[in-house]
Amino acid sequence: MRKVEELPQVRVFDHPLIQHKVTHLRMKETSTKEFRELTSEIAMLMTYEACRSLPLQEIEIETPICKTTGKVLAGKKLALVPILRAGLGMVEGVMNMVPSARVGHIGLYRDPETLEAVEYYCKFPQDISERHVFLLDPMLATGGSILASLEFLKKRNIEQISLLCIIAARPGLEKVVEAHPDVDIYCAALDEELNDHAYIVPGLGDAGDRLFGTK
Ligand code: PRP
Ligand code: URA
Repeated sequence: MRKVEELPQVRVFDHPLIQHKVTHLRMKETSTKEFRELTSEIAMLMTYEACRSLPLQEIEIETPICKTTGKVLAGKKLALVPILRAGLGMVEGVMNMVPSARVGHIGLYRDPETLEAVEYYCKFPQDISERHVFLLDPMLATGGSILASLEFLKKRNIEQISLLCIIAARPGLEKVVEAHPDVDIYCAALDEELNDHAYIVPGLGDAGDRLFGTK
């Protein structure tokens, strides 16, 4: 297989603003407040690029000077699906860019012993199958949580799914790409490995705990 970052469906951002913010997100001395703000800002910047392929339609408008045509987003708006808990930290940033998006939730936690993703909550907008879904989670480590979430979404016959994760680890990302080559993946950073507890190295630690101050 080609290196994941060379695949057309994977985009690892090299924008200086995103890299700067990811470095501050990684720092252990970054406060909970700053961590929340940075997560939201990075999600907002990633959204700009993840929306590049959204369809447009032409409409007639009138400026104070004359009649003309302009382009607006076409069809049903997006659905955002954060994976609880840490995905919640990305919702506000994405919503700043696409305020009319609907929001579904998938509740999963990673069993610390088996590392399997365990579902505890799932609620989607009724018309989710007609929407382009942005699946949100700041961390992709083993890939278990994203794989389980993609299975839930695909059972609902959703045709277009984009995944936005801030830090992806190469082993997990390779699994996701192999199982779901039709999903567009946007990452702010690609880390090479996991430690013995399946934490991303260098990573940023536990994203949920850092967002919500639970440790
Ligand atoms: C984290 C993270 C991902 C998952 C990634 O959540 O937000 O959902 O781990 O790991 P994986 O790729 O190996 O599945 P966690 O399970 O710690 O739950 P939390 O967000 O409630 O803290
Ligand atoms: N979940 C996290 O929050 N961080 C990791 O490094 C791996 C899984």
